Amino acid sequence: MCGIFGMIGANAVGNTLQALKYLEYRGYDSAGVAARVGDEIHIYKSAGRIQNLERLLPKGVESNIAIGHTRWATHGAVSTENAHPFYSPNKHFAVVHNGIIENYLTLKSQLSARGAKFSSQTDSETVAHLLQSNYSGNVLGTVLATANSLVGSFAIAVTSTYDSNLYAIKNKSPLVVGVSGKCVYLCSDIRCVSHWAEKVAVTPDETVVVVGDKGVYFFDFEGKMKEVSFFTTDAAEEMEQVDGDFMLKEIYEVPTKIRLAKEGYFKDGGLNIDSETVRRFTRIYLIGCGTAYNSGLQIAAVARKLIDIDILPVIASEFIYDSYPCGTDTLALFISQSGETADTIRAAEKVRKLGGYTYAVTNTKTSQLSFVCNKVANIYAGGEFAVASTKAYNCQLVTLLLLMLDIARIRQTLDDKVYAEIVDGLDALPMAIEQILSNSYEIATIAEKVKDSSAVFYIGRTCDYPTACEGSLKLKEISYIHSEAYPAGELKHGTLALMEKGVTVVAISTDGELKEKMSSSMNEVATRGADVVSVSPYTFQDALCITLPKVHTALYGIVSVVPLQLLAYYVAKRLGRDVDKPRNLAKSVTVE
Ligand code: F6R
Repeated sequence: MCGIFGMIGANAVGNTLQALKYLEYRGYDSAGVAARVGDEIHIYKSAGRIQNLERLLPKGVESNIAIGHTRWATHGAVSTENAHPFYSPNKHFAVVHNGIIENYLTLKSQLSARGAKFSSQTDSETVAHLLQSNYSGNVLGTVLATANSLVGSFAIAVTSTYDSNLYAIKNKSPLVVGVSGKCVYLCSDIRCVSHWAEKVAVTPDETVVVVGDKGVYFFDFEGKMKEVSFFTTDAAEEMEQVDGDFMLKEIYEVPTKIRLAKEGYFKDGGLNIDSETVRRFTRIYLIGCGTAYNSGLQIAAVARKLIDIDILPVIASEFIYDSYPCGTDTLALFISQSGETADTIRAAEKVRKLGGYTYAVTNTKTSQLSFVCNKVANIYAGGEFAVASTKAYNCQLVTLLLLMLDIARIRQTLDDKVYAEIVDGLDALPMAIEQILSNSYEIATIAEKVKDSSAVFYIGRTCDYPTACEGSLKLKEISYIHSEAYPAGELKHGTLALMEKGVTVVAISTDGELKEKMSSSMNEVATRGADVVSVSPYTFQDALCITLPKVHTALYGIVSVVPLQLLAYYVAKRLGRDVDKPRNLAKSVTVE
């Protein structure tokens, strides 16, 4: 949700543009670059995609210092005037910002009272004005004074004409510093920096960073120097570019990545919580947002059959403001691909404060969430760049399941035989999913029919209901077709009123014991005119059947979602949507 970049070094503008292309997944409402050219700062910015910015950037701008931004609009409409970077009124400072300045209205009215005129509706422009108004002849002092007057979440990069340093202010929004020889990079995403840097540092909260000729220095907001350690980056964390769509590539990576998720889990030592603590737990929360929440929903449905305590999936933004019981007897698993989702981080902070045990399950082990939690499990999905999450969901399921199995074993509620069946069963999944992928043309054919639906409902019972939720979320976010998920038995309590010709119902049915019940639900909707698509190892009359390979019952969720990911993809493609960058969304949701 907004990406920032800054660098000191050769070809600063070219590299900033390249970085913004990498960061575009974080927001694509507008993009802009500010470059130090001689004694001036030149700003180029445009609403819309990076290509618009690229078209207006003069070729070969010579600059050693540049900052850049990709925007996901929070304050102020999508427009060039609201695009970053922002000048201070005297054009001696330029800033880019990711996050929210919560006290910007107060700051704005104080500045306005002193005659400031604003050119945008954003909170971010306030920072540029503050820098000018705080300027005291020393840029570091000015940046520190500005940092101290801000409330909220922010990663801000600052360039000024007063010296040849680059500055950053960081609190609660991600900011990584990378170094390679004489080049230094500031960036929202470690994978982007890994592309260039030999060493990186994750900037802690309440830090001002100064990048200059003599190196990189970190200060707290009082101006006291801070030690921040650099580490070498992992090539696997580098960002990629593909010719086709990231989403399809990422779905096709599912078999490999779930294998890595399992191997990685055991390589990292498993649960890593001592047995006494595990026995003390009386409840487990699975907390996340969107797809990450759905993976918690799925694993809760599986684990309820294996563990003797309450297992509750909760949406992070609800957990923050509701009154769920929580104390030293609570284990809370925080599921987040990015590890940056503000709601999930706030929920983790709340559990910590209440004395609960916090455990991050994430794809980004250097993320903010990982720092907040007591323990971290890496899901090993590799970089995921399509806004719609796919392979990360499958990997979350693998890691969460293994965590739950370890808890069940420690609590002696799972015998060794069942444990071995499930763990060995995981090894069969890559091949089962390959089989689904090799029949993707069948799903593409079904998508041709589904694309004209007025609405698509996804139904399932118990462990298939979370899969229905995830299938529905995938479809609506990239195709813009109205879609909802229901426990199949719940349809007749209201939603059946919506069934008519033109509606499609996708029914997921993997539990042999519930097959007949699912069949009845399908009949009920079909007799009211809906088209039915089944996703099941069984076949159903009067339904277009997507056949699943047989796998262990505890593992169906990892497999049955794949045809739904493909269905959403093909429907969206046939409707001409931008599948990787759906409207109004961004990959990392760093605001509450
Ligand atoms: C949907 C999707 C979102 C994310 C959600 C949480 O396809 O990608 O619903 O799952 O925004 O993101 P993370 O997992 O990064 O916390």
